[in-house]
Amino acid sequence: MRNVVITGGATGIGYAIARHFAEAGERVTITGRREHVLKDAAARLGVAYAAFDATDPDAVSEAVERLPATIHVLVNNAGGNTDRARPAPRGLRAVAQAWRANLDLNLMSAVLVTTALLPRLGEGARVVNIGSIAARGTGSGSYGAAKAALESWTADLAAELGGSGGSGGTANLVAPGLVLETEFFGDGLDEEGIRRRVASTRNGRPGTPHDVATTVGFLASPDAGHITGQVIHVNGGAYLGR
Ligand SMILES: NC(=O)c1ccc[n+]([C@@H]2O[C@H](COP(=O)([O-])OP(=O)(O)OC[C@H]3O[C@@H](n4cnc5c(N)ncnc54)[C@H](OP(=O)(O)O)[C@@H]3O)[C@@H](O)[C@H]2O)c1
Repeated sequence: MRNVVITGGATGIGYAIARHFAEAGERVTITGRREHVLKDAAARLGVAYAAFDATDPDAVSEAVERLPATIHVLVNNAGGNTDRARPAPRGLRAVAQAWRANLDLNLMSAVLVTTALLPRLGEGARVVNIGSIAARGTGSGSYGAAKAALESWTADLAAELGGSGGSGGTANLVAPGLVLETEFFGDGLDEEGIRRRVASTRNGRPGTPHDVATTVGFLASPDAGHITGQVIHVNGGAYLGR
C-alpha cells in the first residue's frame, strides 16, 4: 500500500483522483484550505485530510508534520484561475497583484509543497502536476502563463527525481481541457462557453474528472516508470500535443 497526497483533493478533479487511489487500496491524504469541505470529502472517501493554504510557505512548512513520513505519490492538483474571482485590474499595482495570484496558486503551490515534501519522497516516487490546456496558447493570460511555467518546472523536477540506474522517481504534468463537474468555473461558464469549448474537441464532449484521474493513476503506476518530464494532454483532441 502506498501513501498518496493530493492537494485540492476535496473537490472536482482532485476528488476524482483521490477516489481513484482510494478504490485501488492506497492510503490517501487530501489537502485544501476549507476544513469543513475536506472533512466531508474525507469521510465520504474514507481517507485522511490536512487543511492548509498551499501558497503560504509558513503554512506548508507547518503542515508537513501532519502528512505521512514517507510519500510515494504526490499530486499537485490545487489550482484555478484567480482572475475569475476578481474584477479586471486597473493600474499596475492591481495588474501585479492579479498576476501574482495566479502564479502563486498554480505554480508556487506545487513548488512549495513538492520542495517541502522532497525529503519524504520514497524511492521510485511519482509526482504528477495538474496543468491546463490554457498553457498552450488558448488565451488565458496569467493563468495560462502560470500553467506554462508549471510545465517548465516539471521538466526540472523530473531530472531531480530521476537519479540514475532506473530506480528513480518520475515527474509528469497532466494538462486537461474543459472539465465539468468541478468548482473551477463557479457560476461563470454558460451554455455558449461550454458549446464553444466542446466544438474544439475531436470527440465532441467535455472532459470529466474521471478522465483526468485515470491518467494520473497510470502515470503513478509501476508500468509508467520510463515516462517522465512529459506533458500528457487530456482534452478530447482540442489541442494536439504531438
Ligand atoms: N475544470 C477545468 O476545466 C480545468 C481545466 C484545466 C485544468 N484544470 C486544473 O485542474 C485542477 C483542479 O481544478 P478543478 O477543476 O477540480 O477545480 P476545483 O474544484 O475548484 O478544485 C480546486 C481545488 O484546489 C483547492 N485550492 C484552491 N486554492 C488552494 C490553496 N491556496 N491551497 C490549497 N488548496 C487550494 C480548492 O479547495 P479550497 O478552496 O478549499 O482550498 C479545491 O479543492 C486545477 O489545477 C485547475 O487549474 C481544471
